[in-house]
Amino acid sequence: MTVVAIYSSKGGVGKTTLATNLAWCSAQVPARRTLLWDLDAADGAGFMFALDPDRKRQARSLFAGDVQAHALICPSSYAGLDLLPADSSLRELDSLLLRLGQRHRLATLSRQLARSYDRLILDCPPTLNELSAQVMRAATLVIVPLPPSPLSARAFDFVVEEIRRHTRRPPPILPVLSMIDRRRSLHCEALAANPGWPAIPMVSAVEQCAVQRRPVGAFAPRSPAALAFARLWDGIERKLAQLETGAAAAA
Ligand SMILES: Nc1ncnc2c1ncn2[C@@H]1O[C@H](COP(=O)(O)OP(=O)(O)O)[C@@H](O)[C@H]1O
Ligand SMILES: [Mg+2]
Repeated sequence: MTVVAIYSSKGGVGKTTLATNLAWCSAQVPARRTLLWDLDAADGAGFMFALDPDRKRQARSLFAGDVQAHALICPSSYAGLDLLPADSSLRELDSLLLRLGQRHRLATLSRQLARSYDRLILDCPPTLNELSAQVMRAATLVIVPLPPSPLSARAFDFVVEEIRRHTRRPPPILPVLSMIDRRRSLHCEALAANPGWPAIPMVSAVEQCAVQRRPVGAFAPRSPAALAFARLWDGIERKLAQLETGAAAAA
């Protein structure tokens, strides 16, 4: 069971961009089934994959148990990749989770989805609330995109603290330097200070994802950005394999 959460308490840091491109990378492995689950009412992932917004859908009702996931899941245009899209009903998701009082509701739903999918990728909203706490409890690995700025470094500290507060066995965190421009001294300093952190370049090919409504690997497979996402996903897979080996040894 593998749940990769793309999370930060800060908006505009590249969560949806990472989630959509990494989901596409995951689906490149033949026979691998990947589900991208958008938990942000802004519905960025659905937009990025050019899904038609369906106003009748109520993504929140999955949490209440009123619908089954398969009634909400949509195929993408790419083999092996499905989406569980967001809609405006998720605005009230946090109050529903508090009302339900089930601290592991998201984890339980994720486990059910694991019967049909090998990789579950969560595109999270920029919140510090019950939903983010449930994300931490459900995640196998948490990816935190960090544009090089003191504000995102602060957001990273919030994530670390949030994970510590809400989980008994904290999932590992992988910080990713997002939107790196090597012409800027602050960005070079961030790279030099964190040599082990993966980095995604700030380039127009990535901005084009939202214009073309396709992951960068689908329209510019040899671009530096596509290669950076592919490298990052390989690193995530290696980390997941280590975690699986560790879990098997502990069992
Ligand atoms: N590596 C990048 N290069 C250029 N633009 C980027 C990059 N990553 C994200 N962006 C742009 O930054 C904006 C915010 O990204 P988004 O993924 O929506 O952030 P979040 O989901 O954290 O709010 C979008 O306009 C997106 O196209
Ligand atoms: Mg987003």
